[in-house]
Amino acid sequence: MNSQILKDTIDQIFANGKGILAMDESTPTCEKRFEAAGIPQTSEMYRKYRELIVTTPGLNESIGGAILFDETIRQQTDDGKPMAKVLMNAGIIPRIKVDMGAKSLAGFPKELVTEGLDGLRERLKEYTTMGAHFAKWRAVITIGDDIPTDACIKANVHALARYAALCQEVDMVPIVEPEVLMDGNHSIQRCYEVTEKVLKKLFYQLYQFKIDLEGIILKPNMVVAGKSCPIQNSIDEVAEATVKCLRSSVPASVPAIAFLSGGQSPQVAAEHLNAINKNFKDRLPWIVAFSFARAIQQPALDVWKGEQSNVKEAQKLLSRRAKIAAAARRGEYSSSMEG
Ligand code: 13P
Repeated sequence: MNSQILKDTIDQIFANGKGILAMDESTPTCEKRFEAAGIPQTSEMYRKYRELIVTTPGLNESIGGAILFDETIRQQTDDGKPMAKVLMNAGIIPRIKVDMGAKSLAGFPKELVTEGLDGLRERLKEYTTMGAHFAKWRAVITIGDDIPTDACIKANVHALARYAALCQEVDMVPIVEPEVLMDGNHSIQRCYEVTEKVLKKLFYQLYQFKIDLEGIILKPNMVVAGKSCPIQNSIDEVAEATVKCLRSSVPASVPAIAFLSGGQSPQVAAEHLNAINKNFKDRLPWIVAFSFARAIQQPALDVWKGEQSNVKEAQKLLSRRAKIAAAARRGEYSSSMEG
């Protein structure tokens, strides 16, 4: 492992206040999102949509890295350029989702464990030859009456640590994503407790597996009440709970935290990120940025509708949301940017 390569990659991604665009939706997730937007669910439509994203003018002003799905890294634009190459030419570092998805955890009917360690060393080597310099693995933790169980948390953070070790072995930066889902009616306090427990167990595993913490990016959820909780908290309350939780569980040696949006609306996700950076700027030992998928892409997908004639308008919306997220990363967001 070359720690300097890992650090240089991270510096490059987050330089000049930029963040990460997640565009690595798996085929089942694409199917769901395209169906909801009334777009045919074919591999060619997914390719066209990804081409729309990677060719968006000015995307590189606010995006330093983009996460691709395996299918996309093997695809080309209409004029025959590999998608990863188009991103690299724009100065955006491509990265790759390497897990094989969250599957039912045997013996724990309501819980999931992310799979994909088998053969990962060989797959990572192949991806490095395709230009991917960092990777992502997402673990999913569900909150419910008697879950998450310790067994589920342990299985997921163990896999995250083994994945991170394999990435660092080939000088790829691992994005470590333990997502506590927003689904459910739990309170913000419950989200806080579960997120803190997951992060503490995660960092213990990362320590045990000898991970260089200065060579990872943490991709956590924000601390929010469940989507169907009757009490939803203010922007400042969410920012405060999130910062408190991260400060109690994430070592200062981690260089960067890049939040997922998790189903928050694009505006709310930006407002939360902005409040975290603005209200707590002297108390954050890490870069606190974004690695949003829906909170950057959704308005563009809705406008595109699969039609060539809508591409320019969709690209404008995508670029605007990316700029807004970058402003929030700097604590300079204002609602007037929403247009
Ligand atoms: P959302 O921002 O839509 O939650 O997606 C982020 C992501 O990459 C989930 O793995």
